[in-house]
Amino acid sequence: MEIKKAGVVGCGIMGSGITQLCAQSGYQVVVSEMNDELLNKGLASINSALTKRVEKGKLSQQDKEATLSRIKGTTNIKDFSDCDLVIEAVVENMDLKKKIFAELDKVCPKHTILATNTSCLSIIDVAIATARPDKVLGLHFFNPPPVMKLLEIIKTIATSGETLEIGKSFGESVGKAIVVTKDTPGFIVNSLLVPYMLNAVHMLEAGIATREDIDTAITLGLNHPMGPLTLLDYIGLDTNLFIADATYEQTKDPKWIAPNLLRRMVSAGWLGRKTGKGFYDYT
Ligand code: 3HC
Repeated sequence: MEIKKAGVVGCGIMGSGITQLCAQSGYQVVVSEMNDELLNKGLASINSALTKRVEKGKLSQQDKEATLSRIKGTTNIKDFSDCDLVIEAVVENMDLKKKIFAELDKVCPKHTILATNTSCLSIIDVAIATARPDKVLGLHFFNPPPVMKLLEIIKTIATSGETLEIGKSFGESVGKAIVVTKDTPGFIVNSLLVPYMLNAVHMLEAGIATREDIDTAITLGLNHPMGPLTLLDYIGLDTNLFIADATYEQTKDPKWIAPNLLRRMVSAGWLGRKTGKGFYDYT
């Protein structure tokens, strides 16, 4: 099956990035949000990302306009009724995801593939909210989706071989390198990344080194583009805490126990770049 029209549920950081990526790659895209305010905010962020590329001379004004013309924003789930693939990218709330998948299952044609961008939740639990678990898979993008080269594809015990192949072709068509993983907590990347970032917070909490030295050690010692504390601020401390807690809940493995410092910072509303304060100050 050829994917002509894609849908994205959620136009936050990941949803807007995935929408931009699909539209840039030539797909017609429908993107939804809960209300007009959130939708307009997400669409404005896509416009601004494309404008920056025009200003840098990496994209022509004409291509920017063509990309934007392929995006249709909506607050009505029925607008996904002619999509061949829908990617859900809403907050990590299992009940909400199940509700969305059940609605998409009713609205979308039989052939439509339904994907979730979840970073840590069980995909089969989302799939069984539909009557088509064989057509459900994980498509896990990395922030920022238009830039990061990887796409993790998660195959549940029910995902069909055909669905997996369509997912791979789609990922390649938007320029991503594909890795395939089982439906297991954290998949490949977060299973390695999140405990590493939690360890960096433990290290800071224990006073072993300063935030700057922890980050410098990793950027210069391992050539990572960002140190773990900068990356935590970039992804969002609340998102990381959620992944840690949800995965600990599933595995009871102590490597997922979040440090008190992280929990306290989330309680204080210090969520990283998005709130202007995290391990560093962005105001
Ligand atoms: N949207 C679109 N493009 C963006 C962007 C965004 N949000 N942010 C940066 N870019 C583009 C820039 O326009 C620039 O493009 P160009 O090379 O064509 O000019 C390019 O990315 C590099 O950006 P900058 O020059 O502004 O800055 P950097 O060189 O510092 O790169 C970065 C920024 C790509 C974010 C880099 O610092 C990086 O790779 N950081 C690590 C990010 C990472 O690890 N992400 C994964 C997080 S884990 C995750 O997402 C999984 C989840 O489940 C938790």
